[in-house]
Amino acid sequence: PTIHVVNGPNLNLLGTREPEVYGHETLADVEARCRTLTDSLGHALVFRQSNSEGTLVDWLQDIGREVAAGSALGVVLNAGAYTHTSVALRDAIVGASVPTIEVHVSNVHAREEFRHHSYLSPVAIGIVVGFGTGGYELAIRGLAERGRDGRG
Ligand code: DQA
Repeated sequence: PTIHVVNGPNLNLLGTREPEVYGHETLADVEARCRTLTDSLGHALVFRQSNSEGTLVDWLQDIGREVAAGSALGVVLNAGAYTHTSVALRDAIVGASVPTIEVHVSNVHAREEFRHHSYLSPVAIGIVVGFGTGGYELAIRGLAERGRDGRG
């Protein structure tokens, strides 16, 4: 089955955007490392980014249909700033029954107060925060391993 990785606003700027916070790897670098991992795990990878909230909602709904059909495992989601603002993304995760691992490159809890709350965390399976761009691979492993001990 396919593992989806969905990135929200401004993550297309990874590598040049606040490198002291987000590091020097580009989103293309991250995609390449994710693909090496999913290849080794025997899963397909669909890796996408959008700055538009509605597009992200559409993608989550599509992923939910694939999960229901058995052709996808779920999504690794870095929703960027929409994490802290978007009831619509949360409703899409719940409404389309999308198994979701929330990822943040930075440790949002060590940053501004407004980054401490996530609308998505209560409806995520798990959360990977503060491991830099390596967090995507940790999240993929988590999604792939999910259910092996009977949980989730
Ligand atoms: C982020 C953290 C968010 O607070 C921020 O708005 C981002 C990136 C992260 O990966 O650390 O755009 O999701």
